[in-house]
Amino acid sequence: MEQVKNKQIILKDYVNGFPKESDMPLITSSTINLKLPEGSNAVLLKNLYLSCDPYMRGRMSESKGSYVDSFTPGSPITGYGVAKVLDSGHSKFKKGDFVWGMTGWEEYSIINAPETLFKIEDTDVPLSYYTGLLGMAGMTAYVGFYEICAPKKGEYVYVSAAAGAVGQLVGQFAKLCGCYVVGSAGTKEKVDLLKNKYGFDEAFNYKEEQDLTAALKRCFPNGIDIYFENVGGKMLEAVLSNMRLNGRIAACGMISQYNLEEGEGVRNLFLVVTKRLRIQGFIIGDHYHMYPKYMETVLPLIKQGKICYIEDVVEGLESAPAALVGLFSGRNVGKQLVVVARE
Ligand SMILES: NC(=O)c1ccc[n+]([C@@H]2O[C@H](COP(=O)([O-])OP(=O)(O)OC[C@H]3O[C@@H](n4cnc5c(N)ncnc54)[C@H](OP(=O)(O)O)[C@@H]3O)[C@@H](O)[C@H]2O)c1
Repeated sequence: MEQVKNKQIILKDYVNGFPKESDMPLITSSTINLKLPEGSNAVLLKNLYLSCDPYMRGRMSESKGSYVDSFTPGSPITGYGVAKVLDSGHSKFKKGDFVWGMTGWEEYSIINAPETLFKIEDTDVPLSYYTGLLGMAGMTAYVGFYEICAPKKGEYVYVSAAAGAVGQLVGQFAKLCGCYVVGSAGTKEKVDLLKNKYGFDEAFNYKEEQDLTAALKRCFPNGIDIYFENVGGKMLEAVLSNMRLNGRIAACGMISQYNLEEGEGVRNLFLVVTKRLRIQGFIIGDHYHMYPKYMETVLPLIKQGKICYIEDVVEGLESAPAALVGLFSGRNVGKQLVVVARE
């Protein structure tokens, strides 16, 4: 029976404030068997690609009634990834299958509840896409935009963190719906991508704007019908001032708040009443039953070249902590992923 050492990224201890690379050291664990014991119901995975996602920051803090459990200090970090099945005791999977879903930040993982994994049926597209466009981020953009925002042709749509994994897709879905779309991002390079590659009608660098309310007024002289909220804080306040009557806000995330000891207040919430706004939060884990429908919609769009998708790829498990930390300063351009192995 082949035995190997397993490199792993562990959480050293709970994190306060901005996470650092040193919070996530690389260790080499004791040996792991590359064969499951007789009668096991688990699957043994060789991890290929790992996804870096902002929600992982919440899991680095000691749990305070969050929707997702904290990581365990001293244990490997877990997150979405793409992997190859090396051995399976579960009827849904066999050796050689590719899967995406929750795995460990390590070279090899044993998944004891493999029902949560998605078997990858379509391998005509790059496997790495299942960390984003064909995985959690893509589903988030699809459900958040089509289900929560309920868009209509011709509506005015604003997307924050628009050049990231979710934002780049929301903007393109909105264009496919015939909406007018504006995005914001934190560098000139990203603003150029929004306008010239993803097809947003307008874009601005929020870090260069003295007055976010005025910037939005400039982009939306008639106001915003739909806001896809990724950022929170001051941006949300500026958006509320620019919403139109009966507008909708899909509250997807609020990354500007994740590293703060105390969250910022939003001072103009009464506008929700006067403008009859609907703000709806959602967690993508509640919507995976829609995955087959999403795949039916998005795969043809990809194959017809109607979706532009940019990945930010770093090589090696040892690069994963810096890549994850980089999300909180906007270092990533597009979907941040880590290559652990290429099959
Ligand atoms: N509800 C759900 O189920 C669900 C699922 C997935 C993601 N999300 C949320 O969706 C949002 C986007 O996630 P993603 O995976 O697509 O990440 P991403 O956009 O690829 O990466 C995060 C980006 O956020 C921006 N950012 C970081 N700190 C910021 C700050 N203080 N103010 C404004 N922007 C900041 C940075 O871009 P700039 O250069 O533009 O600053 C960074 O590149 C996050 O809020 C995430 O938590 C929610």
